[in-house]
Amino acid sequence: MFGIQLISGTSNKPLSEEISSLVNVPLTSVIIKNFADGEKYVRVESTVRGENIFIIQSVSPPVNDSLMELLILIDSVKRGGASQINVIAPYLGYSRQDRKSKSREPISAKLIANMITSAGANRLLVYDLHADQIQGFYDIPVDHFLGFSIFAKYLLDKKLKNIVVVSPDVGGVKRANRLADHMGAPIAIIDKIRSKHNQSDVAHLVGDVKGKTAVIIDDIIDTGGSICNAVNEVKNKGAKKVIICASHAVLSGSAITNLQQSVAKKIVFLNTIKLPSTLSNKFVSLTVAPVISDAILRIHQNKSLEPLFVN
Ligand code: R5P
Repeated sequence: MFGIQLISGTSNKPLSEEISSLVNVPLTSVIIKNFADGEKYVRVESTVRGENIFIIQSVSPPVNDSLMELLILIDSVKRGGASQINVIAPYLGYSRQDRKSKSREPISAKLIANMITSAGANRLLVYDLHADQIQGFYDIPVDHFLGFSIFAKYLLDKKLKNIVVVSPDVGGVKRANRLADHMGAPIAIIDKIRSKHNQSDVAHLVGDVKGKTAVIIDDIIDTGGSICNAVNEVKNKGAKKVIICASHAVLSGSAITNLQQSVAKKIVFLNTIKLPSTLSNKFVSLTVAPVISDAILRIHQNKSLEPLFVN
């Protein structure tokens, strides 16, 4: 296709390759390597002058390396004369730090927005931001796709009966409501308290899960603490079966072992972050590539993205 190039960072190459094959545009050859001191070196091997560039790079663990690589890729194509730089960051790390909750804390999500914009991005496409309003941190267009419809299709195909959609915290109620509306199911809410970073406890469960299939939906599974607490809580309150749906598989520390050992029947992720290849069949990966590919084609052809958004 004329005037378009897809450039992949190293954080999620399988997703970039899937997108490339759906868009029918090969990935542009790029050299990405580390200097001895850990600094990144990037060089796009063919001209980008006047081209519509799509850089695909999730800001996923190792988060700081992925972010720096993204910024340097943007800079390299900006200095190479690209006409438009579209950043596809299916998972945008640092989004959870979106407000001050104590004195002298940063708002890192805003800082990242400034960095991506100053580097030269003209447009950002993301999946399931931690909070919808992070879009407003950017003064460039942000296309914010929501994964709940991909989860809904998976769950509807399974023809599950008597479902309740559970939000593992109050912040996720909107997300749970969207899925519940799509499935025609009620919701339940867990009141989560965080005593310190990366540690959470359940305070209350609001709603009825007894005898039901509880579908717990979250944006991120990081340490797995929140979700495993939620699984235990709904089980203790009488849920018959538990399925976990989470957009971004950050999976730090012993998250995989904890999820594997949990009573959840399935743990369903989107492929916004590259999943380890060694996971058991308890883990399911659903792809975002068709939606992203369609969006890339529509952006390139100056067509509306509205048909791709499900609210
Ligand atoms: C927090 O508000 C998020 O929505 C996730 O629930 C949280 O980031 C998950 O973290 P962890 O897996 O470490 O409990």
